[in-house]
Amino acid sequence: MSRGTVVALANQKGGVGKTTTAVNLGAYLALGLRVLLIDLDPQANATSSLGIDPNGLELSTYEALLGEAPLSEVIIGTGRAQFDLAPASRALAGAQIELIEMPEREHRLRKTLLPTREQYDVILIDTPPSLGILTLNALVAADLLLAPVQCEYLALEGVAQLMETIELVRATLNPRLALLGMLMTMYDPRTRLSSQVVEEVRRHFPDRTFETVIPRSVRLSEAPSFGKPVLEYEPTSRGASAYADLAQELLRRGLLR
Ligand SMILES: Nc1ncnc2c1ncn2[C@@H]1O[C@H](COP(=O)(O)OP(=O)(O)O)[C@@H](O)[C@H]1O
Ligand SMILES: [Mg+2]
Repeated sequence: MSRGTVVALANQKGGVGKTTTAVNLGAYLALGLRVLLIDLDPQANATSSLGIDPNGLELSTYEALLGEAPLSEVIIGTGRAQFDLAPASRALAGAQIELIEMPEREHRLRKTLLPTREQYDVILIDTPPSLGILTLNALVAADLLLAPVQCEYLALEGVAQLMETIELVRATLNPRLALLGMLMTMYDPRTRLSSQVVEEVRRHFPDRTFETVIPRSVRLSEAPSFGKPVLEYEPTSRGASAYADLAQELLRRGLLR
């Protein structure tokens, strides 16, 4: 059996669509693949977006990172076929400090994931809006980085900082790490700025910007409060078809091998 491809969703900027992408891309990929979503953000938005209360959990990625439980015991079903979750809890906020003292602190997720990888085709990791130890754990465990980039002024400045971090991770902790691509999010067809930003990012990363662009869509922002991916909440919306397209693009281009 092949081992699952690990994709980290990262961008140190908050509110750019990391969690929205993790949850909705995960839901579409799970229609054909075995998907695990790992929530590494203390805000636990991916966990609650799937209808799971982060306050009612016995175990979370916190225990897995600190070595108090194997990841396999942390993983729960989401009530959806082929779509499992390693949920986050607020305790993760403390892990950022506690991990500093621990041996191999950047490798803890990679190690706890090893025995579980072959049970999935794709493993998506949602990360917090910083380049701290939690995001580093994601980048060290990952084969690929998917960076959601919001269509807004100065989008490229944030991307430059992210690229520096990737180079550093490659040079030191994880030479395997490859850039899967930039995903342009919250595209607003009524503004010139949106299309200018997409053009600019495409110019800098011609082979590394997804063809699929995620539009600004009210349905995408409403779905989490119902604890549902948009695929269940409003499958005919523009936001839903954009994430369906993204999943297709990944499969069609063989990007998850
Ligand atoms: N394409 C979109 N259209 C409209 N709202 C969106 C879109 N993507 C994300 N949002 C909303 O924007 C906010 C930030 O998105 P989120 O995915 O949580 O970002 P991040 O995880 O990068 O902080 C959330 O309220 C989310 O529902
Ligand atoms: Mg998030």
